[in-house]
Amino acid sequence: MDTKPWTGFRARIYSVIWRSPKTNSLVVRLAGLSASDRVLDIGCGPGAAVRKAAAIVVDGEAAGVDRSEPMVDIARRRSRRFPNARFEVGSAESLPFADGSFTVVWTAHSFHHWEDRDAGLAEMLRVLADGGRGLILETDGKKHGLTDSASAAVVADMERLGFRDVAVEKVDKQVIISGVCGSPNLST
Ligand SMILES: C[S@@+](CC[C@H](N)C(=O)[O-])C[C@H]1O[C@@H](n2cnc3c(N)ncnc32)[C@H](O)[C@@H]1O
Repeated sequence: MDTKPWTGFRARIYSVIWRSPKTNSLVVRLAGLSASDRVLDIGCGPGAAVRKAAAIVVDGEAAGVDRSEPMVDIARRRSRRFPNARFEVGSAESLPFADGSFTVVWTAHSFHHWEDRDAGLAEMLRVLADGGRGLILETDGKKHGLTDSASAAVVADMERLGFRDVAVEKVDKQVIISGVCGSPNLST
């Protein structure tokens, strides 16, 4: 696990090599966004998924948060033409947003870096509005990802923390764990 904020050099290298990972399109697609959604990407890196979301949530907003200031600088620079996109420096474990701010929250290839996953999942739930959806996307497997047993543990953690309808799916060598915030009658 890598628990140190990424430096400017590492952020620049990542943002050049992984300019727009295919997995960013995948998470946006699986999120099933509509125009009025308010979206948060935790560990957004250079912000590619936030920009994809911003183009869809034209009546809502797309936010990204990352604990690396250089990453957030790159994301802001690349997103100037998206008025509904914004980026904040902050950690998954202590998100700089009010309760219930977002209808969809995801994290892509960042969860395995989090120092305190329980705290991060609790924060994901806190900033979700009732009926909102949280998604975790990681590589399917041991290296920088989630094995089947690790995924099962995350499912149990999410259920314990209060997510409902927690489900695991695998697409294109990625594992995606999703759950809904709030009691069942709130989203029906
Ligand atoms: C491999 S990059 C993925 C970036 C982006 N989500 C993507 O898929 O292209 C991981 C990102 O997670 C961020 N990160 C790691 N741990 C974090 C934490 N606890 N809170 C917020 N961001 C975190 C890193 O700074 C880095 O930008």
